[in-house]
Amino acid sequence: MNLKDLYINYFVSKGHKQIPSAPVVPENDPSVLFNTAGMQPLIPYLKGEIKHPYGRRLVDYQKCIRTNDLDSIGDATHHTFFEMLGNWSLGDYFKEESIGYSYEFLTNVLKIDPNRLAVTVFRGNDYVPRDTVSANAWMSHGIKEERIAYMGEEDNWWPNMEAYGPCGSDTEIFYFRSEDEVPKVFDPSDERWVEIWNNVFMEYNHNTDGTFTLLPSKNVDTGMGLERVVAILEGKNDNYESSVWENVIKEIESVSGKSYYGNEESMRIIADHIRTSVFIITDPANIRPSNTDQGYILRRLIRRAIRHAKKLDIDISGEWINKICNVIMDEYQGYYSEIRENRNVVIDVIQNETIKFNKTLEKGLREFEKIINKINDKLIDKDQAFKLYDTYGFPIELTTELAKEKGLRVDIDGFNERFKAHQLLSRTASAGKFKGGLQSDGVVETKYHTATHLLNAALKRVVNKDVHQKGSNITSERMRFDFSCDHKLSEEEKQKVEDLVNEWIKEDIPVNKEIMKKEDAIKSGAECMFLDKYPDTVSVYSIGDVSRELCGGPHVSSTKELGKFKIIKEEASSQGVRRIKAVLSDE
Ligand code: ALA
Repeated sequence: MNLKDLYINYFVSKGHKQIPSAPVVPENDPSVLFNTAGMQPLIPYLKGEIKHPYGRRLVDYQKCIRTNDLDSIGDATHHTFFEMLGNWSLGDYFKEESIGYSYEFLTNVLKIDPNRLAVTVFRGNDYVPRDTVSANAWMSHGIKEERIAYMGEEDNWWPNMEAYGPCGSDTEIFYFRSEDEVPKVFDPSDERWVEIWNNVFMEYNHNTDGTFTLLPSKNVDTGMGLERVVAILEGKNDNYESSVWENVIKEIESVSGKSYYGNEESMRIIADHIRTSVFIITDPANIRPSNTDQGYILRRLIRRAIRHAKKLDIDISGEWINKICNVIMDEYQGYYSEIRENRNVVIDVIQNETIKFNKTLEKGLREFEKIINKINDKLIDKDQAFKLYDTYGFPIELTTELAKEKGLRVDIDGFNERFKAHQLLSRTASAGKFKGGLQSDGVVETKYHTATHLLNAALKRVVNKDVHQKGSNITSERMRFDFSCDHKLSEEEKQKVEDLVNEWIKEDIPVNKEIMKKEDAIKSGAECMFLDKYPDTVSVYSIGDVSRELCGGPHVSSTKELGKFKIIKEEASSQGVRRIKAVLSDE
Protein backbone atom coordinates (compact mmCIF):
# COMPACT_ATOMS: atom_id res chain seq x y z
CA MET A 1 0.00 0.00 0.00
CA ASN A 2 1.27 3.48 -0.66
CA LEU A 3 1.83 6.25 1.83
CA LYS A 4 -1.33 8.15 0.92
CA ASP A 5 -3.56 5.16 1.61
CA LEU A 6 -1.69 4.16 4.76
CA TYR A 7 -2.06 7.66 6.14
CA ILE A 8 -5.75 8.00 5.39
CA ASN A 9 -6.54 4.50 6.68
CA TYR A 10 -4.64 5.04 9.90
CA PHE A 11 -6.40 8.28 10.78
CA VAL A 12 -9.80 6.97 9.70
CA SER A 13 -9.21 4.09 12.13
CA LYS A 14 -8.71 6.76 14.80
CA GLY A 15 -12.12 8.31 14.18
CA HIS A 16 -11.13 10.85 11.51
CA LYS A 17 -13.33 11.54 8.50
CA GLN A 18 -11.60 11.81 5.16
CA ILE A 19 -12.34 15.09 3.41
CA PRO A 20 -11.67 15.58 -0.29
CA SER A 21 -8.75 17.74 -1.37
CA ALA A 22 -9.96 21.31 -1.82
CA PRO A 23 -9.28 22.95 -5.18
CA VAL A 24 -5.71 24.11 -5.59
CA VAL A 25 -6.98 27.58 -6.57
CA PRO A 26 -8.56 28.93 -3.37
CA GLU A 27 -12.27 29.50 -3.72
CA ASN A 28 -12.73 32.41 -1.37
CA ASP A 29 -9.34 33.94 -0.87
CA PRO A 30 -8.18 36.28 -3.61
CA SER A 31 -5.07 37.17 -1.59
CA VAL A 32 -3.19 34.03 -2.66
CA LEU A 33 -2.91 32.38 -6.08
CA PHE A 34 -2.75 28.80 -4.83
CA ASN A 35 -3.24 26.73 -1.70
CA THR A 36 0.15 26.30 -0.15
CA ALA A 37 -0.78 24.11 2.83
CA GLY A 38 -3.40 21.56 3.78
CA MET A 39 -4.89 23.83 6.42
CA GLN A 40 -5.59 26.76 4.14
CA PRO A 41 -9.08 25.69 3.05
CA LEU A 42 -9.86 24.94 6.71
CA ILE A 43 -9.13 28.41 8.11
CA PRO A 44 -12.79 29.33 8.80
CA TYR A 45 -13.19 26.07 10.77
CA LEU A 46 -9.95 26.55 12.68
CA LYS A 47 -11.12 30.04 13.57
CA GLY A 48 -14.31 28.52 14.90
CA GLU A 49 -16.45 30.68 12.62
CA ILE A 50 -18.35 27.67 11.35
CA LYS A 51 -18.60 24.00 12.25
CA HIS A 52 -17.19 21.53 9.78
CA PRO A 53 -19.91 19.30 8.30
CA TYR A 54 -17.65 16.24 8.68
CA GLY A 55 -17.05 16.78 12.38
CA ARG A 56 -14.07 17.52 14.56
CA ARG A 57 -11.51 14.94 13.34
CA LEU A 58 -10.46 15.27 9.73
CA VAL A 59 -7.83 13.76 7.47
CA ASP A 60 -6.92 14.39 3.83
CA TYR A 61 -4.32 14.70 1.15
CA GLN A 62 -4.38 18.24 -0.20
CA LYS A 63 -3.14 19.56 -3.53
CA CYS A 64 -0.67 22.36 -2.85
CA ILE A 65 1.34 24.60 -5.15
CA ARG A 66 4.23 26.83 -4.15
CA THR A 67 5.75 28.92 -6.88
CA ASN A 68 7.84 31.37 -4.91
CA ASP A 69 10.98 29.40 -5.58
CA LEU A 70 10.54 28.41 -9.20
CA ASP A 71 14.28 28.88 -9.55
CA SER A 72 15.04 26.00 -7.19
CA ILE A 73 13.15 23.52 -9.34
CA GLY A 74 15.73 21.37 -10.98
CA ASP A 75 17.42 20.31 -7.76
CA ALA A 76 16.76 17.00 -6.03
CA THR A 77 14.14 18.04 -3.52
CA HIS A 78 11.99 20.94 -4.73
CA HIS A 79 8.61 20.71 -6.42
CA THR A 80 6.09 23.33 -7.42
CA PHE A 81 3.19 20.94 -6.84
CA PHE A 82 3.08 18.57 -3.90
CA GLU A 83 0.56 16.67 -1.89
CA MET A 84 0.32 17.44 1.79
CA LEU A 85 -0.98 14.75 4.10
CA GLY A 86 -2.76 16.25 7.06
CA ASN A 87 -4.90 15.40 10.04
CA TRP A 88 -6.87 17.90 12.09
CA SER A 89 -8.55 18.19 15.41
CA LEU A 90 -11.06 21.03 15.48
CA GLY A 91 -11.40 21.47 19.22
CA ASP A 92 -11.20 17.72 19.84
CA TYR A 93 -7.84 16.16 20.87
CA PHE A 94 -4.77 18.30 21.53
CA LYS A 95 -1.03 17.91 22.03
CA GLU A 96 -0.72 14.55 23.78
CA GLU A 97 -3.04 12.59 21.53
CA SER A 98 -1.74 14.26 18.41
CA ILE A 99 1.84 13.34 19.30
CA GLY A 100 0.70 9.82 20.18
CA TYR A 101 -0.87 9.38 16.74
CA SER A 102 2.19 10.73 14.96
CA TYR A 103 4.52 8.48 16.89
CA GLU A 104 2.37 5.40 16.35
CA PHE A 105 1.94 6.07 12.64
CA LEU A 106 5.66 6.56 12.06
CA THR A 107 6.94 3.68 14.16
CA ASN A 108 4.10 1.12 13.92
CA VAL A 109 2.58 1.72 10.51
CA LEU A 110 5.62 2.97 8.59
CA LYS A 111 7.98 0.93 10.78
CA ILE A 112 10.50 3.74 11.11
CA ASP A 113 13.20 2.97 13.63
CA PRO A 114 12.52 5.34 16.61
CA ASN A 115 16.26 5.78 16.99
CA ARG A 116 16.25 7.73 13.69
CA LEU A 117 13.70 10.24 14.99
CA ALA A 118 14.13 13.56 16.78
CA VAL A 119 11.83 16.50 17.45
CA THR A 120 11.83 20.23 18.02
CA VAL A 121 9.40 21.89 20.44
CA PHE A 122 8.62 25.52 21.22
CA ARG A 123 11.00 27.23 23.64
CA GLY A 124 8.45 29.86 24.69
CA ASN A 125 8.34 33.64 24.29
CA ASP A 126 6.89 36.64 26.13
CA TYR A 127 3.31 35.43 25.72
CA VAL A 128 3.41 31.67 25.38
CA PRO A 129 5.23 29.39 27.82
CA ARG A 130 7.76 26.70 26.95
CA ASP A 131 5.99 23.65 25.56
CA THR A 132 6.84 21.07 28.20
CA VAL A 133 3.57 19.23 27.52
CA SER A 134 4.76 18.24 24.05
CA ALA A 135 8.27 17.42 25.25
CA ASN A 136 6.85 15.16 27.97
CA ALA A 137 4.50 13.50 25.51
CA TRP A 138 7.42 12.66 23.22
CA MET A 139 9.43 11.30 26.13
CA SER A 140 6.51 9.17 27.28
CA HIS A 141 6.77 7.34 23.95
CA GLY A 142 10.48 6.80 24.35
CA ILE A 143 12.03 9.78 22.52
CA LYS A 144 15.13 10.58 24.55
CA GLU A 145 15.61 14.00 26.08
CA GLU A 146 18.75 14.62 23.99
CA ARG A 147 16.70 14.12 20.87
CA ILE A 148 14.43 17.03 21.77
CA ALA A 149 15.54 20.53 20.79
CA TYR A 150 13.77 23.62 22.13
CA MET A 151 13.56 26.29 19.44
CA GLY A 152 12.17 29.84 19.23
CA GLU A 153 9.52 31.65 17.23
CA GLU A 154 11.45 31.47 13.97
CA ASP A 155 11.36 27.68 13.97
CA ASN A 156 8.46 26.51 16.08
CA TRP A 157 5.63 28.94 15.40
CA TRP A 158 3.33 28.39 12.43
CA PRO A 159 2.84 30.02 9.98
CA ASN A 160 5.13 32.72 11.48
CA MET A 161 4.85 35.65 13.85
CA GLU A 162 3.85 38.11 11.10
CA ALA A 163 0.99 36.21 9.44
CA TYR A 164 -2.52 37.09 10.53
CA GLY A 165 -5.08 34.42 11.31
CA PRO A 166 -5.02 31.16 13.27
CA CYS A 167 -1.58 30.16 14.47
CA GLY A 168 0.31 28.50 17.25
CA SER A 169 3.42 26.77 18.42
CA ASP A 170 4.39 23.53 16.75
CA THR A 171 6.49 20.46 17.18
CA GLU A 172 8.42 19.24 14.15
CA ILE A 173 9.52 15.68 13.59
CA PHE A 174 12.90 14.94 12.00
CA TYR A 175 14.33 11.81 10.43
CA PHE A 176 18.03 11.01 10.23
CA ARG A 177 18.67 10.52 6.52
CA SER A 178 22.22 9.30 6.22
CA GLU A 179 24.30 6.16 6.22
CA ASP A 180 26.33 7.60 9.10
CA GLU A 181 25.80 6.44 12.64
CA VAL A 182 22.91 8.32 14.22
CA PRO A 183 24.33 10.95 16.60
CA LYS A 184 23.20 10.64 20.21
CA VAL A 185 22.29 14.30 20.49
CA PHE A 186 19.94 15.95 18.02
CA ASP A 187 21.33 19.05 16.34
CA PRO A 188 18.63 20.63 14.14
CA SER A 189 21.27 22.51 12.13
CA ASP A 190 22.83 19.20 11.04
CA GLU A 191 21.40 18.71 7.56
CA ARG A 192 21.38 14.96 7.83
CA TRP A 193 18.28 15.45 9.96
CA VAL A 194 15.35 16.26 7.67
CA GLU A 195 11.96 17.47 8.76
CA ILE A 196 9.17 15.07 7.85
CA TRP A 197 6.08 16.19 9.74
CA ASN A 198 4.81 19.26 11.47
CA ASN A 199 2.19 19.24 14.23
CA VAL A 200 0.84 22.73 14.85
CA PHE A 201 -1.16 23.48 17.97
CA MET A 202 -3.45 26.21 16.75
CA GLU A 203 -4.90 27.93 19.74
CA TYR A 204 -4.34 31.60 18.89
CA ASN A 205 -5.55 34.09 16.35
CA HIS A 206 -3.13 36.80 15.28
CA ASN A 207 -5.38 39.81 14.83
CA THR A 208 -4.71 42.60 12.35
CA ASP A 209 -4.16 45.06 15.22
CA GLY A 210 -1.15 42.99 16.24
CA THR A 211 -2.66 41.27 19.26
CA PHE A 212 -2.90 37.53 19.80
CA THR A 213 -6.17 36.20 21.23
CA LEU A 214 -7.23 32.67 22.06
CA LEU A 215 -9.30 30.91 19.44
CA PRO A 216 -12.66 29.54 20.59
CA SER A 217 -11.10 26.06 20.64
CA LYS A 218 -7.72 24.40 20.74
CA ASN A 219 -7.00 22.82 17.37
CA VAL A 220 -4.36 20.59 15.85
CA ASP A 221 -3.15 21.07 12.27
CA THR A 222 -0.56 18.70 10.92
CA GLY A 223 1.22 18.53 7.59
CA MET A 224 3.49 15.95 6.01
CA GLY A 225 5.01 16.49 2.58
CA LEU A 226 4.30 13.30 0.66
CA GLU A 227 7.14 13.37 -1.87
CA ARG A 228 9.82 13.88 0.74
CA VAL A 229 8.59 11.15 3.05
CA VAL A 230 8.23 8.62 0.23
CA ALA A 231 11.79 9.36 -0.86
CA ILE A 232 13.02 8.89 2.70
CA LEU A 233 11.16 5.64 3.21
CA GLU A 234 12.60 4.33 -0.03
CA GLY A 235 16.11 5.42 0.95
CA LYS A 236 16.49 7.95 -1.90
CA ASN A 237 18.31 11.24 -1.56
CA ASP A 238 16.86 12.44 -4.84
CA ASN A 239 13.06 12.72 -4.67
CA TYR A 240 12.85 12.16 -8.41
CA GLU A 241 14.32 8.69 -7.98
CA SER A 242 11.45 7.61 -5.73
CA SER A 243 8.38 5.67 -6.82
CA VAL A 244 6.41 8.95 -7.03
CA TRP A 245 8.37 9.86 -10.16
CA GLU A 246 9.57 6.57 -11.49
CA ASN A 247 7.15 6.23 -14.42
CA VAL A 248 7.32 9.88 -15.36
CA ILE A 249 11.11 9.95 -15.51
CA LYS A 250 11.06 6.70 -17.49
CA GLU A 251 8.77 8.31 -20.03
CA ILE A 252 11.00 11.38 -20.33
CA GLU A 253 13.97 9.06 -20.85
CA SER A 254 12.01 7.29 -23.54
CA VAL A 255 10.87 10.39 -25.46
CA SER A 256 14.34 11.93 -25.29
CA GLY A 257 16.33 8.75 -25.78
CA LYS A 258 18.60 9.96 -23.00
CA SER A 259 19.38 8.74 -19.51
CA TYR A 260 18.18 10.59 -16.41
CA TYR A 261 21.71 10.53 -15.09
CA GLY A 262 23.61 13.40 -16.67
CA ASN A 263 20.35 15.18 -17.58
CA GLU A 264 18.82 15.44 -14.14
CA GLU A 265 18.09 19.15 -14.11
CA SER A 266 16.12 19.32 -17.35
CA MET A 267 14.26 16.10 -16.65
CA ARG A 268 13.27 17.22 -13.16
CA ILE A 269 12.02 20.54 -14.53
CA ILE A 270 10.00 18.82 -17.25
CA ALA A 271 8.52 16.29 -14.82
CA ASP A 272 7.70 18.84 -12.14
CA HIS A 273 6.34 21.56 -14.41
CA ILE A 274 4.13 19.28 -16.47
CA ARG A 275 2.69 17.62 -13.37
CA THR A 276 1.83 21.01 -11.86
CA SER A 277 0.30 22.13 -15.16
CA VAL A 278 -1.94 19.05 -15.19
CA PHE A 279 -3.20 19.90 -11.71
CA ILE A 280 -3.76 23.58 -12.53
CA ILE A 281 -5.64 22.83 -15.74
CA THR A 282 -7.93 20.24 -14.13
CA ASP A 283 -8.75 22.38 -11.10
CA PRO A 284 -12.37 23.56 -11.04
CA ALA A 285 -11.25 27.17 -11.41
CA ASN A 286 -10.69 26.47 -15.11
CA ILE A 287 -7.34 28.21 -15.36
CA ARG A 288 -5.89 28.49 -18.86
CA PRO A 289 -2.51 29.87 -19.97
CA SER A 290 -2.58 33.68 -19.98
CA ASN A 291 -0.45 36.64 -18.98
CA THR A 292 -1.92 37.24 -15.54
CA ASP A 293 -2.27 35.54 -12.18
CA GLN A 294 -2.56 31.73 -12.12
CA GLY A 295 -2.81 31.64 -15.91
CA TYR A 296 0.61 33.19 -16.16
CA ILE A 297 2.13 30.69 -13.77
CA LEU A 298 0.64 27.94 -15.93
CA ARG A 299 2.07 29.50 -19.08
CA ARG A 300 5.52 29.81 -17.52
CA LEU A 301 5.50 26.20 -16.36
CA ILE A 302 4.56 24.84 -19.77
CA ARG A 303 7.02 27.08 -21.60
CA ARG A 304 9.91 26.28 -19.33
CA ALA A 305 9.20 22.57 -19.73
CA ILE A 306 9.23 23.00 -23.51
CA ARG A 307 12.50 24.85 -23.48
CA HIS A 308 14.09 22.07 -21.40
CA ALA A 309 12.70 19.48 -23.77
CA LYS A 310 14.43 21.36 -26.56
CA LYS A 311 17.60 21.31 -24.53
CA LEU A 312 17.34 17.53 -24.42
CA ASP A 313 16.95 17.54 -28.23
CA ILE A 314 13.39 16.28 -28.01
CA ASP A 315 11.42 17.10 -31.16
CA ILE A 316 9.14 19.64 -29.52
CA SER A 317 6.63 19.61 -32.34
CA GLY A 318 5.96 15.90 -31.71
CA GLU A 319 3.84 13.94 -29.26
CA TRP A 320 6.31 14.04 -26.39
CA ILE A 321 4.32 16.29 -24.08
CA ASN A 322 1.07 14.35 -24.52
CA LYS A 323 2.88 11.15 -23.61
CA ILE A 324 4.26 12.67 -20.42
CA CYS A 325 0.86 14.14 -19.51
CA ASN A 326 -0.74 10.74 -19.98
CA VAL A 327 1.69 9.02 -17.66
CA ILE A 328 1.11 11.69 -15.02
CA MET A 329 -2.65 11.44 -15.37
CA ASP A 330 -2.47 7.63 -15.09
CA GLU A 331 -0.61 8.05 -11.82
CA TYR A 332 -3.08 10.45 -10.25
CA GLN A 333 -6.51 9.83 -11.71
CA GLY A 334 -7.36 7.16 -9.14
CA TYR A 335 -7.09 9.81 -6.44
CA TYR A 336 -8.44 12.85 -8.26
CA SER A 337 -11.66 12.55 -10.26
CA GLU A 338 -11.04 15.96 -11.85
CA ILE A 339 -8.06 14.44 -13.64
CA ARG A 340 -10.02 11.38 -14.74
CA GLU A 341 -12.73 13.60 -16.15
CA ASN A 342 -10.51 16.12 -17.91
CA ARG A 343 -7.87 14.10 -19.68
CA ASN A 344 -8.80 15.50 -23.08
CA VAL A 345 -8.92 19.03 -21.80
CA VAL A 346 -5.39 18.72 -20.46
CA ILE A 347 -4.07 17.48 -23.76
CA ASP A 348 -5.91 20.23 -25.68
CA VAL A 349 -4.71 23.06 -23.46
CA ILE A 350 -1.12 21.88 -23.36
CA GLN A 351 -1.09 21.24 -27.11
CA ASN A 352 -2.40 24.73 -27.86
CA GLU A 353 0.13 26.38 -25.64
CA THR A 354 2.90 24.26 -27.13
CA ILE A 355 1.92 25.24 -30.66
CA LYS A 356 1.79 28.89 -29.67
CA PHE A 357 5.19 28.83 -28.01
CA ASN A 358 6.87 26.72 -30.65
CA LYS A 359 6.08 29.47 -33.14
CA THR A 360 8.06 32.07 -31.26
CA LEU A 361 10.64 29.99 -29.41
CA GLU A 362 13.04 29.66 -32.37
CA LYS A 363 12.76 33.33 -33.25
CA GLY A 364 13.16 34.30 -29.63
CA LEU A 365 16.29 32.22 -29.31
CA ARG A 366 17.71 33.97 -32.38
CA GLU A 367 16.82 37.35 -30.87
CA PHE A 368 18.56 36.24 -27.69
CA GLU A 369 21.72 35.42 -29.66
CA LYS A 370 21.54 38.85 -31.29
CA ILE A 371 21.20 40.53 -27.93
CA ILE A 372 24.16 38.75 -26.41
CA ASN A 373 26.34 39.65 -29.36
CA LYS A 374 25.51 43.30 -28.80
CA ILE A 375 25.91 43.71 -25.07
CA ASN A 376 29.14 44.73 -23.48
CA ASP A 377 28.93 44.64 -19.70
CA LYS A 378 27.49 41.10 -19.40
CA LEU A 379 24.08 42.48 -18.54
CA ILE A 380 20.86 41.96 -20.44
CA ASP A 381 18.99 45.17 -19.71
CA LYS A 382 15.34 45.51 -18.76
CA ASP A 383 14.23 46.56 -22.25
CA GLN A 384 15.92 43.59 -23.89
CA ALA A 385 14.40 41.22 -21.34
CA PHE A 386 11.00 42.85 -21.79
CA LYS A 387 11.21 42.52 -25.56
CA LEU A 388 11.92 38.80 -25.19
CA TYR A 389 8.85 38.55 -23.00
CA ASP A 390 6.52 40.79 -24.96
CA THR A 391 7.42 39.78 -28.52
CA TYR A 392 8.59 36.20 -28.10
CA GLY A 393 6.71 35.12 -24.97
CA PHE A 394 9.84 34.38 -22.91
CA PRO A 395 9.00 34.36 -19.20
CA ILE A 396 11.73 36.08 -17.21
CA GLU A 397 13.11 32.88 -15.67
CA LEU A 398 13.62 31.51 -19.15
CA THR A 399 15.69 34.54 -20.10
CA THR A 400 17.68 34.37 -16.87
CA GLU A 401 18.28 30.69 -17.37
CA LEU A 402 19.57 31.24 -20.90
CA ALA A 403 21.69 34.12 -19.65
CA LYS A 404 23.13 32.04 -16.84
CA GLU A 405 24.16 29.36 -19.27
CA LYS A 406 26.19 32.04 -21.08
CA GLY A 407 27.63 33.55 -17.91
CA LEU A 408 25.48 36.69 -18.21
CA ARG A 409 23.15 38.54 -15.88
CA VAL A 410 19.70 40.06 -16.39
CA ASP A 411 18.32 43.29 -14.89
CA ILE A 412 15.48 41.41 -13.20
CA ASP A 413 14.34 44.31 -10.99
CA GLY A 414 14.11 46.59 -13.99
CA PHE A 415 12.21 43.95 -15.91
CA ASN A 416 9.82 43.37 -13.01
CA GLU A 417 8.99 47.05 -12.83
CA ARG A 418 8.05 47.18 -16.49
CA PHE A 419 6.30 43.86 -16.24
CA LYS A 420 4.15 44.84 -13.26
CA ALA A 421 2.92 48.01 -14.90
CA HIS A 422 2.12 46.06 -18.02
CA GLN A 423 0.41 43.28 -16.08
CA LEU A 424 -1.74 45.65 -14.08
CA LEU A 425 -3.08 47.05 -17.31
CA SER A 426 -3.77 43.71 -18.94
CA ARG A 427 -5.23 42.20 -15.80
CA THR A 428 -7.83 44.89 -15.32
CA ALA A 429 -8.57 45.13 -19.01
CA SER A 430 -8.82 41.42 -19.73
CA ALA A 431 -10.68 40.29 -16.66
CA GLY A 432 -12.99 43.27 -16.83
CA LYS A 433 -12.66 43.50 -13.12
CA PHE A 434 -14.41 46.53 -11.79
CA LYS A 435 -12.77 48.74 -9.32
CA GLY A 436 -12.31 47.14 -6.00
CA GLY A 437 -11.72 43.71 -7.41
CA LEU A 438 -14.31 42.71 -4.87
CA GLN A 439 -14.46 38.96 -4.65
CA SER A 440 -16.84 38.37 -1.85
CA ASP A 441 -19.53 40.40 -0.23
CA GLY A 442 -18.99 39.64 3.42
CA VAL A 443 -19.61 42.31 6.04
CA VAL A 444 -15.91 43.00 6.51
CA GLU A 445 -15.20 43.16 2.79
CA THR A 446 -18.07 45.59 2.35
CA LYS A 447 -16.52 47.88 4.95
CA TYR A 448 -13.17 47.75 3.19
CA HIS A 449 -14.84 48.58 -0.05
CA THR A 450 -16.25 51.78 1.37
CA ALA A 451 -12.89 52.51 2.98
CA THR A 452 -11.21 52.49 -0.45
CA HIS A 453 -13.47 55.37 -1.50
CA LEU A 454 -12.51 57.36 1.58
CA LEU A 455 -8.83 56.61 1.08
CA ASN A 456 -9.02 57.65 -2.56
CA ALA A 457 -10.65 60.94 -1.54
CA ALA A 458 -8.16 61.58 1.27
CA LEU A 459 -5.18 61.01 -1.02
CA LYS A 460 -6.57 63.56 -3.48
CA ARG A 461 -6.90 66.13 -0.74
CA VAL A 462 -3.65 65.50 1.10
CA VAL A 463 -1.24 64.45 -1.66
CA ASN A 464 -2.45 65.74 -4.96
CA LYS A 465 -5.79 66.21 -6.67
CA ASP A 466 -4.47 64.21 -9.61
CA VAL A 467 -4.05 61.00 -7.63
CA HIS A 468 -6.06 58.26 -9.30
CA GLN A 469 -6.91 54.77 -8.30
CA LYS A 470 -4.97 52.14 -10.25
CA GLY A 471 -6.28 49.03 -8.61
CA SER A 472 -7.37 47.48 -5.38
CA ASN A 473 -7.71 44.15 -3.74
CA ILE A 474 -9.73 43.32 -0.68
CA THR A 475 -9.71 40.36 1.67
CA SER A 476 -11.43 39.97 5.01
CA GLU A 477 -8.09 40.82 6.65
CA ARG A 478 -7.00 43.99 4.86
CA MET A 479 -7.30 46.26 1.88
CA ARG A 480 -4.70 47.06 -0.72
CA PHE A 481 -5.01 50.22 -2.78
CA ASP A 482 -2.84 51.21 -5.74
CA PHE A 483 -2.77 54.81 -6.91
CA SER A 484 -0.83 57.02 -9.28
CA CYS A 485 1.78 59.07 -7.47
CA ASP A 486 5.34 60.01 -8.29
CA HIS A 487 6.83 59.90 -4.82
CA LYS A 488 7.00 57.90 -1.64
CA LEU A 489 4.55 59.37 0.85
CA SER A 490 6.18 61.16 3.74
CA GLU A 491 5.32 60.18 7.31
CA GLU A 492 3.40 63.41 7.57
CA GLU A 493 1.37 62.71 4.44
CA LYS A 494 0.54 59.21 5.60
CA GLN A 495 -0.57 60.49 9.00
CA LYS A 496 -2.70 63.20 7.46
CA VAL A 497 -4.39 60.73 5.11
CA GLU A 498 -5.08 58.34 7.96
CA ASP A 499 -6.42 61.12 10.19
CA LEU A 500 -8.66 62.47 7.48
CA VAL A 501 -10.20 59.06 6.78
CA ASN A 502 -10.79 58.56 10.51
CA GLU A 503 -12.34 62.01 10.77
CA TRP A 504 -14.82 61.16 8.03
CA ILE A 505 -15.61 57.86 9.70
CA LYS A 506 -16.36 59.66 12.98
CA GLU A 507 -18.61 62.15 11.20
CA ASP A 508 -20.94 59.24 10.41
CA ILE A 509 -21.60 60.36 6.83
CA PRO A 510 -24.34 58.45 5.03
CA VAL A 511 -23.43 56.54 1.86
CA ASN A 512 -25.91 57.05 -0.97
CA LYS A 513 -26.45 55.07 -4.10
CA GLU A 514 -27.99 56.45 -7.29
CA ILE A 515 -28.63 54.57 -10.49
CA MET A 516 -28.09 56.70 -13.60
CA LYS A 517 -26.90 56.76 -17.20
CA LYS A 518 -23.16 56.48 -17.54
CA GLU A 519 -22.83 59.85 -19.36
CA ASP A 520 -24.87 61.60 -16.72
CA ALA A 521 -22.72 60.04 -14.01
CA ILE A 522 -19.57 61.38 -15.63
CA LYS A 523 -21.13 64.79 -16.15
CA SER A 524 -22.05 64.87 -12.47
CA GLY A 525 -18.36 64.57 -11.65
CA ALA A 526 -18.26 60.96 -10.48
CA GLU A 527 -14.84 59.29 -10.54
CA CYS A 528 -14.28 56.13 -12.41
CA MET A 529 -11.25 53.92 -12.99
CA PHE A 530 -12.12 52.04 -16.16
CA LEU A 531 -14.91 53.86 -17.85
CA ASP A 532 -15.39 51.55 -20.81
CA LYS A 533 -15.75 48.54 -18.53
CA TYR A 534 -19.03 49.83 -17.18
CA PRO A 535 -22.45 49.18 -18.67
CA ASP A 536 -24.59 52.10 -19.86
CA THR A 537 -26.53 52.26 -16.64
CA VAL A 538 -24.32 52.54 -13.58
CA SER A 539 -24.43 52.95 -9.83
CA VAL A 540 -22.87 56.03 -8.35
CA TYR A 541 -21.99 55.98 -4.68
CA SER A 542 -21.62 59.27 -2.86
CA ILE A 543 -20.29 59.77 0.61
CA GLY A 544 -21.56 63.26 1.56
CA ASP A 545 -19.45 65.73 -0.37
CA VAL A 546 -16.32 63.70 0.37
CA SER A 547 -16.48 61.27 -2.53
CA ARG A 548 -18.50 60.40 -5.59
CA GLU A 549 -17.55 57.33 -7.61
CA LEU A 550 -18.94 54.93 -10.15
CA CYS A 551 -18.87 51.57 -8.51
CA GLY A 552 -20.48 48.15 -8.41
CA GLY A 553 -20.69 48.21 -4.61
CA PRO A 554 -21.70 46.92 -2.15
CA HIS A 555 -21.13 49.53 0.55
CA VAL A 556 -21.99 50.18 4.17
CA SER A 557 -24.81 52.64 4.75
CA SER A 558 -22.85 55.05 6.90
CA THR A 559 -19.14 55.68 7.48
CA LYS A 560 -19.27 55.10 11.23
CA GLU A 561 -19.62 51.37 10.59
CA LEU A 562 -16.00 51.25 9.47
CA GLY A 563 -14.48 51.51 12.96
CA LYS A 564 -10.88 52.65 12.90
CA PHE A 565 -8.72 52.96 9.80
CA LYS A 566 -4.98 52.35 9.90
CA ILE A 567 -2.32 52.39 7.19
CA ILE A 568 0.09 49.53 7.76
CA LYS A 569 2.33 49.94 4.73
CA GLU A 570 3.08 52.31 1.88
CA GLU A 571 5.35 51.06 -0.85
CA ALA A 572 6.12 51.21 -4.58
CA SER A 573 3.92 49.02 -6.74
CA SER A 574 5.32 49.82 -10.17
CA GLN A 575 6.66 52.84 -12.04
CA GLY A 576 4.61 55.84 -10.90
CA VAL A 577 2.24 53.70 -8.87
CA ARG A 578 2.27 53.46 -5.07
CA ARG A 579 0.51 50.89 -2.93
CA ILE A 580 -1.10 51.30 0.47
CA LYS A 581 -2.08 48.42 2.69
CA ALA A 582 -4.53 49.32 5.39
CA VAL A 583 -6.69 47.64 7.97
CA LEU A 584 -9.93 48.43 9.75
CA SER A 585 -10.48 47.51 13.37
CA ASP A 586 -13.22 48.03 15.89
CA GLU A 587 -12.78 51.25 17.87
N1 ALA B 1 0.19 23.83 8.35
C1 ALA B 1 1.40 23.20 8.77
C2 ALA B 1 2.45 23.18 7.70
O1 ALA B 1 2.15 23.43 6.55
C3 ALA B 1 1.12 21.84 9.29
O2 ALA B 1 3.58 22.91 8.01
